[in-house]
Amino acid sequence: MPGDKEEQEGSAELREKPRREEEEDEEAVDAMRVCYQGFDPAAYLQFNYTPPRADFQRADSIVPWKLACLHRAFSEGDMQGEVLVDVGSGPTLYQVMSGCEVFGRVVLTDFLEVNRRELQRWLQDGSSSLDWTPYLEYVCQLEGRRPSASSEKAARLRSVVSDVLPIDVHRPCPLAPGTIPANGADCLVSCFCLESVSPDLAVLTRALGHISSLLRPGGHLLLIGALGESYYLGAAGLRIPVVPLDEAQVCSSLKSSGYQLLQLSIYTLPAEMRVGVDDVTGVFFAKARKP
Ligand SMILES: C[S@@+](CC[C@H](N)C(=O)[O-])C[C@H]1O[C@@H](n2cnc3c(N)ncnc32)[C@H](O)[C@@H]1O
Repeated sequence: MPGDKEEQEGSAELREKPRREEEEDEEAVDAMRVCYQGFDPAAYLQFNYTPPRADFQRADSIVPWKLACLHRAFSEGDMQGEVLVDVGSGPTLYQVMSGCEVFGRVVLTDFLEVNRRELQRWLQDGSSSLDWTPYLEYVCQLEGRRPSASSEKAARLRSVVSDVLPIDVHRPCPLAPGTIPANGADCLVSCFCLESVSPDLAVLTRALGHISSLLRPGGHLLLIGALGESYYLGAAGLRIPVVPLDEAQVCSSLKSSGYQLLQLSIYTLPAEMRVGVDDVTGVFFAKARKP
């Protein structure tokens, strides 16, 4: 019957549209993966983790702000358990320098082998494209310890990092099966990852859902990310596109993934921190709980 045919064609169209959209999403995600093939860990560290962005003498420098947020979150006493997973570690270690005192097992992860190798080098013999000592000293000071306790903190960090694993946040199971406990980690940390590996907000929110499957119910997520950023340099001359987020989008993405937002702090980038390696305007820090 003609009516039925039209109906069938109509519903076929309805069925195909999401599939087409899914294919477009996958193509856009693949394009992001290709972008990352040119990522240079040493250049990225130089651009983002040296002064003025990492100036421990300046109260308005971006790295001390991030370290203070992480220190506060881990000192509040509400995050407990054994396993902390850092999602998209890149070549950096600052994000686990407070958490390594609270959790007995820390798992670092990244999509790129060059970044995992960079982390392994520091874990094995302290060699690295960046000297992490001033970071360790600063976090010791935040904890009320002498800066010279930094070597103890470095030893603690080396002793609790159990693995440096490959991850892909665009896969429903981002880590290989069996690499973390079946009921999930007790805490997830992720810094500047989701917005800088996703083509748009919908895919970012989907990736947030994927990583949430790594967290046990009742566990905490600490998310740090860029606001208003459309690109950053992953190597000299390599512009990696970023989803330009605002505060409301961060909140709605967390809410739609089922999180209870416990705290949101915002850092506005002073003019002196705009050093031509990205167009970020601010940074958010979110502490959330998975019910
Ligand atoms: C902007 S860097 C952030 C690095 C570090 N967390 C920091 O705070 O500076 C983004 C990281 O995401 C990683 N990445 C790229 N694609 C990814 C994917 N599909 N899944 C997980 N991580 C990915 C990159 O290799 C890179 O290390």
